[in-house]
Amino acid sequence: EQIEKGGYEHFMLKEIFEQPKSIHDTMRGRLLVDEGVIKMAGIWDHVERFKNANRIIIIACGTSWHAGLIGEYLIEEYARIPVEVEYASEFRYRNPIITDKDVVIAISQSGETADTMAALKLAKEKGAFIYGICNVVDSSIARITDAGSYTHAGPEIGVASTKAFTAQLTILTLIAFKLGKHNGNLGNADFMSLIAELDAIPKKIEEVLNTTHELVQNIAKDFVNATNFLYLGRGYNYPAALEGALKLKEISYIHAEGYPAAEMKHGPIALIDENMPIVIIAPKKGHYDKIVSNVQEIKARKGKVIAVVNKGDQQVSAMADYVIEIPETSECFSPIVASVPLQLLAYYIAVYRGANVDQPRNLAKSVTVE
Ligand code: G6P
Repeated sequence: EQIEKGGYEHFMLKEIFEQPKSIHDTMRGRLLVDEGVIKMAGIWDHVERFKNANRIIIIACGTSWHAGLIGEYLIEEYARIPVEVEYASEFRYRNPIITDKDVVIAISQSGETADTMAALKLAKEKGAFIYGICNVVDSSIARITDAGSYTHAGPEIGVASTKAFTAQLTILTLIAFKLGKHNGNLGNADFMSLIAELDAIPKKIEEVLNTTHELVQNIAKDFVNATNFLYLGRGYNYPAALEGALKLKEISYIHAEGYPAAEMKHGPIALIDENMPIVIIAPKKGHYDKIVSNVQEIKARKGKVIAVVNKGDQQVSAMADYVIEIPETSECFSPIVASVPLQLLAYYIAVYRGANVDQPRNLAKSVTVE
């Protein structure tokens, strides 16, 4: 096992550090920047099905559901196809309206999650075209779907998903750009600049790992005894906030909630005092001014702010108690980049609390029963 961990203390840390490679591997052979092409046979062979879809419904559980929410932002923004995202467990039991004009995308690292599988079967019975985004080759979900794209993240051992999540985001980004290019909603110049930027994401992740690893480790030490955490973000980073909170609660057993930053005033603000740590994702591109006022409201109530900002940031950084800098990207890529320090934060808080990071209590890597 020590050999499999490649010198890292836990699989989770190894998998966090593998992300430049897993994202690169997921794009390999698909993203051809020089030719200005995204090659995805699963999409291309059924492109009319996607093009004529009334809507796309994304179904998933857990971390994969968070990836699905970001998929909604991506596909609606770039391909202008309406998207709904559903928990598989809710979808399967609520007699959903599905027709043969719908495309259903299931996202599942393991490809074995019982609820996701059952929801897909239901959608298939009702005539929808079903597409899978799985990490495990030849898994049950990969086999029952009409088509799909594998994430090539490699085996993920840590129960808390990290590299599979960012690989899922990579696939969803490719799908959104490909569909947008094909249906004319994403012009050629924008397409070319977005794919060049996507191609450079593994390098940016590498940079984030190098520049934030030690810093986040030190920040984590100050929060070992925290009992609650709030994670806030807007737009694309609202699901990133949900995922950041999920990582922390899964492995450190600290209660954490993710929220869209603007919803803070409808509830969570009542919880803020000097004992409440608040992780806020505040990149330059993406409602930055609104986030600035959220941070002002938090500081007025003495909350402890851990801010994830772009390099050179001033306004949020001046108010925050802790600052984690990430490189600037177009908004659609920021959840991939911002997720990395949040994974590290959850990891180190859990390690300092002496928790079993790779196999947290009560959780399973793949939930094959209801
Ligand atoms: C379990 C795992 C999570 C995962 C979820 C969905 O709860 O612990 O990490 O996100 O199942 O799994 P899937 O394999 O369908 O992505």
